[in-house]
Amino acid sequence: MKIAVYPGSFDPITFGHLDVVSRAAAVFDQVYFAVLVNPRKSEPIFATDERLAAIREAVDESCPPDVAARIAIESFDGLTVDFCRGRDATFVVRGLRAISDFESELQMAHTNRKLAPEIDTVFFMTALEHSYLSSSLVKEISALGGDVTQMVPPAVVRRLNARGRSL
Ligand code: PNS
Repeated sequence: MKIAVYPGSFDPITFGHLDVVSRAAAVFDQVYFAVLVNPRKSEPIFATDERLAAIREAVDESCPPDVAARIAIESFDGLTVDFCRGRDATFVVRGLRAISDFESELQMAHTNRKLAPEIDTVFFMTALEHSYLSSSLVKEISALGGDVTQMVPPAVVRRLNARGRSL
């Protein structure tokens, strides 16, 4: 059984993330969305539980039931490789949108490999139509009253609307 972990901040999940996970689910038997509790980048706008709930709804609303059943959603704190080991996962999945992602992803992949040689990183090129997307842009656009319905799944739009501009 091939098990993969898709780690990230997912604050919030975008159509780009959904594209990557659905393609990963075509390759791996089980994929874990692993939501980092405290992203380093910035203070998260959505609490961990909200991110987990939005991802579960987004996956269930966009993937066929047999695929959604193979995508688990959990939070984690600590090292990605430790979470992988705890789930018997031997692959980390990451999306690559553009060349600008490459350097930091290369660094992470090599570091994780050094920490856990039995775990390999597999990259999926984010679909072209989603390659401009980023969670931080979505947050900014939404906070300024812009329309993000083409960028994030309805499960996120509902939560953003519930907050108005108070991000
Ligand atoms: O969505 P992001 O913010 O680009 O995801 C980054 C993430 C969560 C994959 C990365 O920060 C991570 O793996 N954090 C967990 C701590 C860890 O394992 N650090 C060493 C990775 S090289």
